[in-house]
Amino acid sequence: MDIFQVFRDRRSIRKYKDVPVEQEKIEQILDAARLAPSWKNMQCWRFMVLTEADVRAKVLEALPDDNPGKKAIAAAPVVIVVCGNPFESDVENGIQYFIADVAIAFEHLCLAAHALGLGTCWMGWFDESLVKRSLGIPDDIKIVGITPLGYPDQVPKQRPRKQLQEIACFNQWT
Ligand SMILES: Cc1cc2nc3c(=O)[nH]c(=O)nc-3n(C[C@H](O)[C@H](O)[C@H](O)COP(=O)(O)O)c2cc1C
Repeated sequence: MDIFQVFRDRRSIRKYKDVPVEQEKIEQILDAARLAPSWKNMQCWRFMVLTEADVRAKVLEALPDDNPGKKAIAAAPVVIVVCGNPFESDVENGIQYFIADVAIAFEHLCLAAHALGLGTCWMGWFDESLVKRSLGIPDDIKIVGITPLGYPDQVPKQRPRKQLQEIACFNQWT
C-alpha cells in the first residue's frame, strides 16, 4: 500500500473481529516501531504485547467506563502497552523527549498495522499506576499509550482535520 494512502485511510478502530492476529504480523508491526528515529538514537521504547485473555483483562480494569475505546480493549485479540524509559532519553527546552521517541514508534506501529489490514486505537486515558501494578511494569518506566490490535469490524468515517493554512505558514509566522 502506498504510504500516502496509509496516512489517509488509517482510523482509530474500536470494533474488532473475533479473529486471532498472526504472530508473524505482530512481529512485522513491532519491527516497524523498532525502526523509528529517537533522541540520540537511544531507542527508549518498550512494547508489552498481551495475547492472553486474562492478562488483557487487567488492562480493561484500568480504563474508565467513559473511555470510548474501552470496548475495543475488551474485543481485540491483542493489546499492546507502549512504554518508554525516560532515563534512556533526555529533556531539552523543557521537552521530555522520551514522549516524542515513544510517540513516533507508536505511530509507526499504527501505520504498519493498517498497511497489513489490522486496526489500532491509541489510548491515553487509563489509570497508569493500576496498569503498571497489575502487569508488573517497573516504577521507572512510563506508559505512553495502549492500543488494541486486531482485524477491524468497522470502517469509520474520516475524522475532521484542520486545513493546511490553519496549521502551516511559510517564512513568516501567522
Ligand atoms: C495521545 C492520544 C490519546 C488518545 N486517547 C484515546 C483514548 O483514551 N480513547 C479513545 O477511544 N481514543 C483515544 N485516542 C484516539 C483519538 O480520539 C483519535 O485519534 C482522533 O479522534 C482522530 O481519529 P482517527 O484516529 O480515527 O483519525 C487518542 C489518540 C491520541 C493520539
